[in-house]
Amino acid sequence: MNKPADFPLPLDAATPALQPQVGVSRAHEAAHLHVSGEAVYIDDIAEAQGTLHAALGLSPVAHGTLVSIDLDLLRRQPGVVAVLTAADFPGENNCGPLIHDDPILAEGTLRYVGQPVYAVIATDRELARRAAALAKQAVVSTPLPAVLTAREAHAIGQYVIAPMHLTRGDPQAALAGAPHRLEGEWAVGGQEQFYLEGQISYALPQENQALLIHCSTQHPSEMQQLVAHALGWQAHQVTVQCRRMGGGFGGKESQSALFACVAALAAHRLRRPVKLRVDRDDDFLVTGRRHGFDYRWSVGFDDEGRILGAEIDLISNCGHSADLSAPVMARALCHFDNAYWLPHVAMHGYGAKTNTQSNTAFRGFGGPQGALAIEMIMDGIGRRLGLDALTVRQRNFYRDGQDITPYGQRVEDNQIQPLTDQLIASSEYHARRAEITAFNATSPVLKRGLALTPVKFGISFNVVHLNQAGALVHVYTDGSVLVNHGGTEMGQGLNTKVAQVVAHELGVPASQVRASATDTSKVANTSATAASTGSDLNGKAAQDAARKIRARLTPLAARLLGCAESDVVFDGGEVRAGHGDPAVPSTAAAISFQELVGKAYLERIQLWSDGFYATPGLNWDRAKLQGNPFFYYAFGAAVAEVLVDTLTGETRVLRADVLHDVGRSLNPALDIGQVEGAFVQGQGWLTSEELVWHPQSGLLLTHAPSTYKIPTANDMPRDFRVALFDAPNAKDSIHRSKAVGEPPLLLPFSVLLAIKDAVAACGPERCDPPLRAPATPEAVLDAIEAVQARMAG
Ligand code: MTE
Ligand code: HPA
Ligand code: MOS
Repeated sequence: MNKPADFPLPLDAATPALQPQVGVSRAHEAAHLHVSGEAVYIDDIAEAQGTLHAALGLSPVAHGTLVSIDLDLLRRQPGVVAVLTAADFPGENNCGPLIHDDPILAEGTLRYVGQPVYAVIATDRELARRAAALAKQAVVSTPLPAVLTAREAHAIGQYVIAPMHLTRGDPQAALAGAPHRLEGEWAVGGQEQFYLEGQISYALPQENQALLIHCSTQHPSEMQQLVAHALGWQAHQVTVQCRRMGGGFGGKESQSALFACVAALAAHRLRRPVKLRVDRDDDFLVTGRRHGFDYRWSVGFDDEGRILGAEIDLISNCGHSADLSAPVMARALCHFDNAYWLPHVAMHGYGAKTNTQSNTAFRGFGGPQGALAIEMIMDGIGRRLGLDALTVRQRNFYRDGQDITPYGQRVEDNQIQPLTDQLIASSEYHARRAEITAFNATSPVLKRGLALTPVKFGISFNVVHLNQAGALVHVYTDGSVLVNHGGTEMGQGLNTKVAQVVAHELGVPASQVRASATDTSKVANTSATAASTGSDLNGKAAQDAARKIRARLTPLAARLLGCAESDVVFDGGEVRAGHGDPAVPSTAAAISFQELVGKAYLERIQLWSDGFYATPGLNWDRAKLQGNPFFYYAFGAAVAEVLVDTLTGETRVLRADVLHDVGRSLNPALDIGQVEGAFVQGQGWLTSEELVWHPQSGLLLTHAPSTYKIPTANDMPRDFRVALFDAPNAKDSIHRSKAVGEPPLLLPFSVLLAIKDAVAACGPERCDPPLRAPATPEAVLDAIEAVQARMAG
């Protein structure tokens, strides 16, 4: 199928090797465990004797004053050992990541249907859940008026964060002077992370007032801090471990905290191990997800479709608390430009406070919501002018001299034009456009649609200090290597990539390097594995550690080999005297890595090291929304072709061609997997995953897979052609690679716009279908009806 690009040449001049360990496809380090079922997730850890199980009692109302909880009723239930409430926290009852407005258990006010109010601890999980489910009887409250939609909240100025404004130039004047004007209102829904392993924490008391917590989290250090905070402890009393997650997708960046804190509280109070694993319905009801956005825009453009001025309101539905909504909105504002030069622009971001789950990180972190707006606008401009939207896009691309983003960062190493040109050619875009037009002219029921959308995605946390990482590399005397780093494994292949980096530095096969579980007692003060920076940050930190070890071994190797230190080469499990040219095999004597390490041990040379990395050159003024928040940009583009059944509204992606920039890939197989996964996940967001809250009660009705439809293998593009764009990162990133986790989530904008294109074929010339997202069959039928009505009228 997809042949991974291969890189026969050494990837880093500083570490020449005949047998490079990076730039080659290797299976995920735990793939064989994932498929055999041997991979240990937290619920698979053998339970310690005396383990108790917790379940959460959830608020039955969207907004109310908490009057009382009938604890006696709950305590009387079979198997119940204890019932805990907000009053039981010795420290602060709060697990908010940035702004402290997130009660762990409800206190004073009930904020949404599903908010945890109390925790039942019982002898087994089923009994805990049965008792916890009595919330309707046990929780007494007086109702308060609930605000359930972002629009309502915006109308009354109810926000969780201060509005953000990012302006360049004079958009009002540019709009007033533009020959054409497009105004629009639109909205895109939220999205559930739907990690296969739900939220879970398992807390085990340790001697002398300490806790070990196994937590499925992207952010062990923050879990450690928040647990310590909730218990009124010091951080060194809490150790958080995570071997792996069964997916995170942003949903375990901050929101694993509530579960960690409740399990920790119960373990601390009862001096027993306590596990809290929520089932899928509760996971949906308790935690937040991708922010849905409402937009209102006004855009002025010339006869060619070039944007002259734009003004946009972005209203995100944050839910009841801030969580990560501020950096999510900042990223949305920094991605409204996507790949385009906007000379005059004003963006206004409003984080609406509603009585729903608190929305949080999800792959792309606001970037998709920002960029989707401009892609809808590009499509609208094309339809207004009777141009292919691709032409409009190309005319608006960032180019030399027009390459400063609205937030002041220059778009360097801009690959968008060469990449798009290559994709247009390889996908035969223009021939297929003509073919589809011909098909639609003679096909009254089935319509096809085509769209190409580009991606430019900024890489780095948009909070500067988070861009740091640490690692530990241990070389044992038998030559085997263990690496531990601050990142977490959630299926993305981070451990595989980091192991490859370490193997490459030490010149040993990657199979000789093992990555151990993330553990706050090994590497301290880590950042979340998020913002796609996992391998950029931890790869560099691990490389630093491995280089220190190599530097300590080199003088000994030179002595043993009788060569200059500068000629020592670590490669293929050996250490030999090279001649500076890695392409020419050395005939000189070599010793095995193991032998060298054994001798180094006897000479009392330190065989392990720490490593550290901080991304250089970043600055960001959070108040002015100006600076250089990103180390570099990742680019990509996709062409999607869809088939729409105009009688049922059903859609099918016939073909998708993707060309995505990962710099010089560390591991092409893993990167292609990330691109494919992100594409289909984004397709789900825009086509089938619909969140519905009851308009009166505020209950999330779609809280299970029966009603919330994530894409399945059958929804994959029938013909899926994913290729990596081969261009090394111009920045000194780890082996010149680029981050891959999130950017490809924006590629399936092409699917939504191809559906819109097919719908447009049902209406009059130049019609602009009012298609909602997600483009479910209902939404598609509504849009078809609307354009057909225009045809009739
Ligand atoms: N891939 C898998 N299989 N599972 C996940 O949970 N999360 C995504 C992406 N790819 C995710 C994934 C998100 S939201 C991010 S930020 C990155 O992986 C994080 O990992 P990285 O920085 O190591 O790429
Ligand atoms: N991505 C993910 N998490 C974050 C970010 C980001 O850009 N900024 C702060 N937390
Ligand atoms: Mo990813 S949303 O940054 O965890």
